[in-house]
Amino acid sequence: MANENTLQDIIGHCKEYGFVFPSSEIYDGLGAVYDYGQYGVELKRNIRDYWWRSMTQMHDNIVGLDAAIFMHPTVWKASGHVDNFSDPMIDNKDSKKRYRVDHLVEGFVENLDQEKADAMIASMEALLAADDFAGLKKLIEDNHIKCAVSGTCNWTDVRQFNLMFATEFGAVASDNPDDNKVYLRPETAQGIFVNFLNVQKSGRMKIPFGIAQTGKAFRNEIVARGFIFRMREFEQMEMQFFVRPGTQKQWYEYWKEARMQWHLSLGISPAKYKFHDHLKLAHYADMACDIEYDFPMGFKEVEGVHSRTDFDLTQHQEFSKKKMQYFDADIDPETGKAFGNYIPYVVETSIGLDRTVMMLLSEAYQIEDLSTEEKKDDRVVLKFPAFLAPIKLAVFPLTKKDGLPEIANELMNECRPLFKCFYEEKDAIGKRYRRQDAIGTPFCVTIDHQTKEDNMVTIRHRDSMQQERVPISEVKNIVMHSLQPL
Ligand code: GAP
Repeated sequence: MANENTLQDIIGHCKEYGFVFPSSEIYDGLGAVYDYGQYGVELKRNIRDYWWRSMTQMHDNIVGLDAAIFMHPTVWKASGHVDNFSDPMIDNKDSKKRYRVDHLVEGFVENLDQEKADAMIASMEALLAADDFAGLKKLIEDNHIKCAVSGTCNWTDVRQFNLMFATEFGAVASDNPDDNKVYLRPETAQGIFVNFLNVQKSGRMKIPFGIAQTGKAFRNEIVARGFIFRMREFEQMEMQFFVRPGTQKQWYEYWKEARMQWHLSLGISPAKYKFHDHLKLAHYADMACDIEYDFPMGFKEVEGVHSRTDFDLTQHQEFSKKKMQYFDADIDPETGKAFGNYIPYVVETSIGLDRTVMMLLSEAYQIEDLSTEEKKDDRVVLKFPAFLAPIKLAVFPLTKKDGLPEIANELMNECRPLFKCFYEEKDAIGKRYRRQDAIGTPFCVTIDHQTKEDNMVTIRHRDSMQQERVPISEVKNIVMHSLQPL
C-alpha cells in the first residue's frame, strides 16, 4: 500500500547521510535532477558492477559496450523516437500546468479504494492502448479530476509531447537550427544497435549473443516526481540479446525469468515483485512486460523486458543504407541448409540504475523501536545486502590513545585493498555504531585495551546488533565471506 511518509523519510535520510542531494541545491534545485553523495555513489557503483558482472562475466555470450551519448541525429529518426517518443499530455487552462495523462489519473486514484482505483486504471490503460485521446479527456472530466495548482477541471484536449532533449552540435552557425540539432539519448539501446555489426564481427560473436551497456539517458519528463524514481537525467543498464527470427518468444521468456532471479538475488522477497504485461506496446515491440517492485508509493516499474523484433536493425539498415545482416552458418534441420543471411531479432532487458538504488533504499530502510522503560530509542538502519553496502567495515579504536589507533590502522591497511572501510575515533562507541547503521555498514570492529593483551577485537553485526570477540586476524575473512551475492 502506498506510504508517502516512508518515502519522505527515505528522501530526508538520503540527504542527511550523503546518499542523494537535489541538484544545484543552493540555487533551489533543478526539477527531477539529483546528485549522488559519498555513500550514494558507492551504492550505485556496487549495483552497477553487480549487474555488469551478472551480464558480461556470467554469460560467455554477452559482451560490453560504452557508446557515446551523442549520436547522429538520423539514429533517432530511424529508431522512431522523433515521431513516436511522446506521451499524451493535458494542460490545465487556468494554471497553465501540463500533466502526463497517466500520472494525473494515477495521482487521482491514490485516494480511491482499491477496487475503484483498479477499475479506473484499467479503463485508462485501455484508452491509452487505443490512442483514444478524446476518451482520456472524458475520463478526466467525468471523474472531476482537478489540477493540483488551480483546483479546476478546465482542461485542454489531450496531445502528444516529445520527451527528447535537443541541443546544438559544433560551433558553426546555420540559418536552419535543425542543421546542428542533436539529441541527448533517451535510451542507451540505440548505441548498441548501431554497433551491432562492429561488435559481432570484431568479437566473432555467434547468434544468440548479447551486448550490455550502462550509461546516462535523458528524458524531458513532464511530471517528474517520486524522488529518483522519475528523473530527467538518469542511468540505464541495458542488454540487447540478438536471436534467430522465430526464437524470440523462447528468449523473451528466458530473460523474464533470468531477470527476476537477478532481482531475487538482491535478497528481496518474491512477494515484493510482480510482472506487468504491456497492453499498449511501444512502437518497436511485439511482447513486453515490466518487472514491478512494491515501492513506498505502490507497485511500480523498475525494469522492462521487451521483444523488439527486428524493428531497430531494419530501420537502421533502411536509413543508413548499410546492411545490418548476420550470416548464420548453422544448419536449419527443416531445410538441411544453412540458415543464411538475416536481420536478427532482439530481446532487450532494460533496468534503471537510479530506480534500482531507490528500490534497495526502500527495501533496506527500517526504523527499529529499541525503547526501554527509561528511554525512548529508535534505531534507523539500512539493511543492505553486505555485497552492495557502501562501506563494508568500520574500524573504531575505543580511545584515541594507548596505542589503540595504531592497531586500528594496521587493520585498516590490511582490509582497505580488499573492500571499502571507514575509520573513526570520535564519540562514544554506541554513537559510532548508530552512524554506521544509518549508512548500512554490515560490520563494525572495536579495538580496546584487551586487544593489546590477546589480539581479540569486538565485531558488531549490523542487523542483529550482536557482538562477539574474534581474533583480529579473522576480521578480514569474516567480511570477505559476507560479500557474496545472496
Ligand atoms: N530501451 C528501452 C527503454 O528505455 P523504458 O521502459 O522506457 O525502456 C527502461 O526504460 C527503464 O529505464 C525503466 O524500467 C526505468 O527503470 C528506467 N527509466 C525510464 N525512465 C526513467 C526516468 N525518467 N527516471 C529514472 N529511470 C527511468
